[in-house]
Amino acid sequence: MADTLPALQKEALREIAEAKDMEALLQVEQKLFGRKQGYLTAELRKLGGIPESERKSQGEALNLLKATLERALLDRKDAFERKKIDALAAEDHLDITMDLPPPPRGHLHLIPEFMNQVEEVFGRMGFDVAYGPEIEEEALNFDLLNMPVDHPARDVQDTFWMERASAEGRRLLLRTHTSPVQIRYMQTHTPPFRMICPGKVFRRDADATHSPMFHQFEGLMIGKDVSLRHLKGVMIAAVKELISEDLTFRFRTGYFPFTEPSMEMDIQWGEGEGKWLEVAGCGMVHPQVLRNVKIDPEVWQGFAFGFGVERLLMIKHRIPDIRSFYQGDLRFLRQF
Ligand code: PHE
Repeated sequence: MADTLPALQKEALREIAEAKDMEALLQVEQKLFGRKQGYLTAELRKLGGIPESERKSQGEALNLLKATLERALLDRKDAFERKKIDALAAEDHLDITMDLPPPPRGHLHLIPEFMNQVEEVFGRMGFDVAYGPEIEEEALNFDLLNMPVDHPARDVQDTFWMERASAEGRRLLLRTHTSPVQIRYMQTHTPPFRMICPGKVFRRDADATHSPMFHQFEGLMIGKDVSLRHLKGVMIAAVKELISEDLTFRFRTGYFPFTEPSMEMDIQWGEGEGKWLEVAGCGMVHPQVLRNVKIDPEVWQGFAFGFGVERLLMIKHRIPDIRSFYQGDLRFLRQF
């Protein structure tokens, strides 16, 4: 039988080559390899019954034939597949084998992305990061920051009050700044330390540069000889890295009950000279605030600052209206 194999191979290869279409090809495949009537299947099955002396060479020859025919069948199948694809493409005028462009991927919104950068930049300057609750106790948002009940500065930050008091009966509000996180931090850490506290804050206020919810990051550095020079150095270095090297800064005297002296930091923006946008309040932490959190102001001193995140981003990307940040308009958001 071994001598019939070359003839068989020739015949089978011819049938494979001459199959008109996929269906015809599958019939040839059945004839050769079908489980019940396949010629080669039967021959391979017979191997078990022939004398051992012949079995090895016969097996090898059969397996070789089997591999050759399988290869030829596969090649022919591929050719039919390709023809089918070409026909489809010709019909639709499109190349369906072409690599598609990757699907569009989302990305972080401008604000959380910027908050991550803030943490990174200050992290490199040795600042710890702390977070606090957005629903805050009145005492932490105001009293401990040297703003007692009758203090006029309390009205400046128009407050959203919660209707319900805390379980301990304390008045609650939506924090008007992230300064209460500084109080919480000072109550639980021993100086020297440096920290920033990024987060959402809330005030009754709404126009093109004010939103009832906006973002701040405040910073605090307490040590034995921390001075205004450190304050300016840290603030300017951070803003340059976060926004641009090419900025003009101005510090004006300001007023905050929790710092003394107090300043406001402005950045030049818009066309022409003399246009400034206030981006931060800052100053040396008031001794009374330090006493309120049991830090001795005779030994420790330091600075604090608070930046408006949206304001900084408005300068960085020349965004004229703060409300664009929150409208979820993809024509706006996709630009970044
Ligand atoms: N908490 C102030 C505000 O929100 C900003 C500030 C922080 C000012 C720290 C001075 C020091 O307006």
